[in-house]
Amino acid sequence: MTEMKSEVVERRVIPTLKNMQQVYENYTPEDHLVWKILFERQIKNVNQHATQSYIDGLGLIEFRNDRIPNFHRVNQVLEQLTGWELVAVEGIVDDRLFFELLADRKFPATTWLRKMSELDYLEEPDMFHDVFAHVPLLANQQFVHFLEQLAKIGLEHIDDNWAIQLISRIYWYTVEFGLIEELGELKIYGAGILSSAGETEFSVSAEPIHRNYDVCLMLDTNYEKDHFQKEYFIIKSFEDLYDSIDQIERALDSRLRMKDKI
Ligand SMILES: [Fe+2]
Repeated sequence: MTEMKSEVVERRVIPTLKNMQQVYENYTPEDHLVWKILFERQIKNVNQHATQSYIDGLGLIEFRNDRIPNFHRVNQVLEQLTGWELVAVEGIVDDRLFFELLADRKFPATTWLRKMSELDYLEEPDMFHDVFAHVPLLANQQFVHFLEQLAKIGLEHIDDNWAIQLISRIYWYTVEFGLIEELGELKIYGAGILSSAGETEFSVSAEPIHRNYDVCLMLDTNYEKDHFQKEYFIIKSFEDLYDSIDQIERALDSRLRMKDKI
């Protein structure tokens, strides 16, 4: 493990969605303690560096330090706010199921939590990443409209590996590693950053390259799977993010047409 390792790894294949549920009473005292340690460590960072929309969402969804969130309760709140819901999955789901769920306003989340011995690095995302880092933004209507539309583009191209790779870059540089400018300051909305204490500090420091949101450049930029990102893209507002969907479709189509001609 190095300090520069990213928390998020690429999704690997679990092809079907079993009828899974969060069995809340199965969480051990150690699980709740791990949640508490991670929550208390990261809440200071997010209060300082996260977008106001994330902080507002965290309050609306009422995550607490002293207990793991109950999906049933979270879903009651999300239903009221944006109509989205969390669905429990065993681990990383395949692209088709992932996009199908998002297009249906369902966010797949694991129900297991890292062990005390794995506080700083994981091989794949756990509930702290999927829930603490992703869910507060599911309360933001413009953000979830973007997520839903991006998933629909993904489904249109689901049998084209190259197209899915390009769409994954957009997802990566926005939903996982996106930054936003707020009142002249760089703030974070990407969940891959918000679940990592190290990358939260790093992403808004002077070290990485900060670029204006640029759909074409994101489509043409591969990403770092195992390390902090070399570059981050900055949106001006969540409205702009949603408004970029048409541009994503056009830029993607032009790249796919170019590939067909080669
Ligand atoms: Fe994620």
